[in-house]
Amino acid sequence: MNPKTYKKLVVKHLSRDFRTAVDIVEADFPIPAPNEIVVRNLFAGVNASDVNIAAGVYFVNTPPFDVGVEAASVVVALGKNVQHLHIGDHVITFQIGGGYREYFAIDATQVIPIKEATPEILTVVVSGMTAAIGLEVVGEIKSSDVVLVTAAAGGTGNYAVQLALLAGAHVIGTCRSQTKVQFLKQLGCHRVINYYQENLDEVLKKEYPQGIDLVYECVGSELFDICVDNLARRGRLVIVGYISEYLSPELELVNRPRIYNKLLWKSASLRGFLFSDYSEYLQQKQSRLMELLSTGKIKPAVDSTEFKGIESIVDAVEYLYSGKNCGKVIVRF
Ligand SMILES: NC(=O)c1ccc[n+]([C@@H]2O[C@H](COP(=O)([O-])OP(=O)(O)OC[C@H]3O[C@@H](n4cnc5c(N)ncnc54)[C@H](OP(=O)(O)O)[C@@H]3O)[C@@H](O)[C@H]2O)c1
Repeated sequence: MNPKTYKKLVVKHLSRDFRTAVDIVEADFPIPAPNEIVVRNLFAGVNASDVNIAAGVYFVNTPPFDVGVEAASVVVALGKNVQHLHIGDHVITFQIGGGYREYFAIDATQVIPIKEATPEILTVVVSGMTAAIGLEVVGEIKSSDVVLVTAAAGGTGNYAVQLALLAGAHVIGTCRSQTKVQFLKQLGCHRVINYYQENLDEVLKKEYPQGIDLVYECVGSELFDICVDNLARRGRLVIVGYISEYLSPELELVNRPRIYNKLLWKSASLRGFLFSDYSEYLQQKQSRLMELLSTGKIKPAVDSTEFKGIESIVDAVEYLYSGKNCGKVIVRF
């Protein structure tokens, strides 16, 4: 029996402070249009970009609007034209506004049918596909590459590490805690650098004098500068994100010579990358990742801290920003 109302998180005013930007509201249970299904969310993925969405940085939106992106869910109602799905089927939904809510009405052709909704399988759609497209399409990874992944123990970082290892590359991961060092060693990283304990620039210059061929860069600030300085000849740095500045009202101003000086003389390149701009690869990468998961070749890491229900979402986002997470942060409903 479906309820008459349900709860969801909405952005009530644009702010980088997620806690003050959002509110929990009660909405009527949706009646599906003929081509729609209604799903009950079981797990929702927490993303660094939730803050950017709530601040209106990722795309322009006028509050109030819904937040949360990917969810693993169970079908609870069907529109009259929907033939290929049934009540009780499990699916992944992947739409801005679809994640942080108990129920969601969505076009039945927009969901990914899955055997069983689990936190692990949910990690494929944003974290996994970002890593796959970022490394393989944008970064043009090769087996001979030395690859450096920053925020390597995080949601998308642990995928990047595992995919780079599968590609046969030499993989370096950076992080800021010893717990994450252990985790990344277990994943198989050839070198793990806790840059709160070791000087990243010195380690790279000493141990990788030929430079880094491919950087999957999630953090920004000084880490970005060090990665640029240590690029190899024809090195590629994929700008995946700059989480270190997402909570700041203004980007840091840096007074330096223009960056062409650092790139031209070694034919290196910086490649900005938003996975939503690579939609033509989503289907192919998703199928491949699902296959890698089912054959155990990739074991996506899910952070073990439990967040339960709509009321826990703000804490989950703040937890991700505390930097304590090892693997993907998930909210359970
Ligand atoms: N371009 C795209 O399409 C796309 C898609 C998805 C995600 N992303 C980006 O990928 C990055 C990771 O996102 P995610 O959602 O997977 O998060 P996450 O990596 O699971 O969590 C964030 C991690 O970032 C690291 N970090 C480094 N400096 C930080 C700082 N100053 N404040 C907070 N965290 C810091 C922390 O790990 P350490 O302690 O190990 O440093 C933290 O655990 C973000 O930059 C995000 O915007 C981009």
